[in-house]
Amino acid sequence: MALPSALVKTQLIKSCWLEQPDDTSHCFAVTDPATNQAFAWLPEQSETETLAAIDRATEAFTQWRDTPARKRAELLFRWATLVREYKQELAMLLTLEQGKPLSEALGEIEYGASYLHWFSEEAPRVYGSTIPAIDGSKRIFVTKQPVGVVAAITPWNFPNAMLARKAGAALAAGCTFVAKPAQETPLSAYALQRLATMAGIPEGVFELVCGSDSAAIGQVLTTHKAIAKFSFTGSTKVGRLLAGQCSSTVKRLSLELGGNAPFIVFNDTDVQQALDGLMLAKFRNAGQTCVCVNRVLVQQEIYDEFAKRLAKRVSALKVGPGITKGTEIGPLIHARAAANVNGLVADALAAGAHDITLASETAGNKSEGNWVQPRVLTQVTNDMAIAQQEIFGPIAALIPFTHEAEAVSLANDTEYGLASYVYTRDNAQLWRVAEQLEFGMVGMNDAAISNPAAPFGGVKQSGYGREGSQYGLDDYLDIKYMSMGGL
Ligand code: SIN
Repeated sequence: MALPSALVKTQLIKSCWLEQPDDTSHCFAVTDPATNQAFAWLPEQSETETLAAIDRATEAFTQWRDTPARKRAELLFRWATLVREYKQELAMLLTLEQGKPLSEALGEIEYGASYLHWFSEEAPRVYGSTIPAIDGSKRIFVTKQPVGVVAAITPWNFPNAMLARKAGAALAAGCTFVAKPAQETPLSAYALQRLATMAGIPEGVFELVCGSDSAAIGQVLTTHKAIAKFSFTGSTKVGRLLAGQCSSTVKRLSLELGGNAPFIVFNDTDVQQALDGLMLAKFRNAGQTCVCVNRVLVQQEIYDEFAKRLAKRVSALKVGPGITKGTEIGPLIHARAAANVNGLVADALAAGAHDITLASETAGNKSEGNWVQPRVLTQVTNDMAIAQQEIFGPIAALIPFTHEAEAVSLANDTEYGLASYVYTRDNAQLWRVAEQLEFGMVGMNDAAISNPAAPFGGVKQSGYGREGSQYGLDDYLDIKYMSMGGL
């Protein structure tokens, strides 16, 4: 327990206790998922602080909106540069509170910075247009204006990058921003806020509210009249609830919700390339990613070979605390998350799936507390809970198929529609299948689909709205049309 507390000492976190305070009634604890030990305590915030943050963001809005776009761009770029400068400290905080391996945490910090950097470049490029009017005595002008004060709830699986992705777009558009980070991972958020201040971003532009009463904070953010737009990344269940709360004030909404990504492998695939892609898209962040592969659909002819080679690689994955050098799979965020994943595995095995992971080769068989042993399950069917629910853990569930139409039909047989992946050497098949997949994103012989230049988002029960790219900026802009008459 002494170790994480010592590591968290940083000038980036101002209001955090590293020893448990005598009176804990006004604070909440941050826990290391590798040990389930609390190592930092933060002041509890709730409705009062949320209202105050909204007031500050409202007050700051006009000035931020009217700040020249080039100036906003400069501040965002400075913020991105500082994030890159402090990447070691930020990554350490992230690993301590989130659990992912330090190498992945470093990757996430660069991923977060890449959004701030990208949107610093987009800020001066919010163009309008003119449209020839039907009546010759008139002119039509179209401009884009910031929607106003934005609220967001961000998740624990990417505590830096998801906050940076939303805030980067909002601030570039000229909106001010109030976020509630997940209670599990507030330190990364506070550190990001400190860097925003160091970059010169004015008070009220990037506000945070951290506390354990998510429902109370969420209620204020989703119902307050001053909030023009609400952005959420998290589960479909919670997304539905928040969308309902937003309806009374008709807020603009962006919802990045759950996924159930299929990974389709055809007979003619370059198996090595597909395996490399699958290892990345399945086991990143121990499988706790909305775009993580949930179902691996493999064509019959190569099914056995593919499963065998996959099992060998999965069995060799090194499971351990994120701060231990060489760790590839960290703990899951909570014991209840791990219990859920282990329950899905037990259910699939009882229903006829086979665990082909080579237990003797595994780096320690961890399946208690927050730990889930990475596994490969074969003979999974699409009706099993493990194929229909979001696994959010390091389990590869393999489903065989015989022909293209069956693969497409199995892939689309889910209520979700976030990410999907297809591997084949046949380019015509690649296009055909990609076009038929009912998902917002398709990796075509590509498993690394997340980057700031691309519109990240889903369809169906995975939500709507896009993050990243110029489409991500549009989500924070209102279109205004002006008609000028009397010419
Ligand atoms: C997510 O899991 O919500 C985000 C993952 C990513 O940006 O790749």
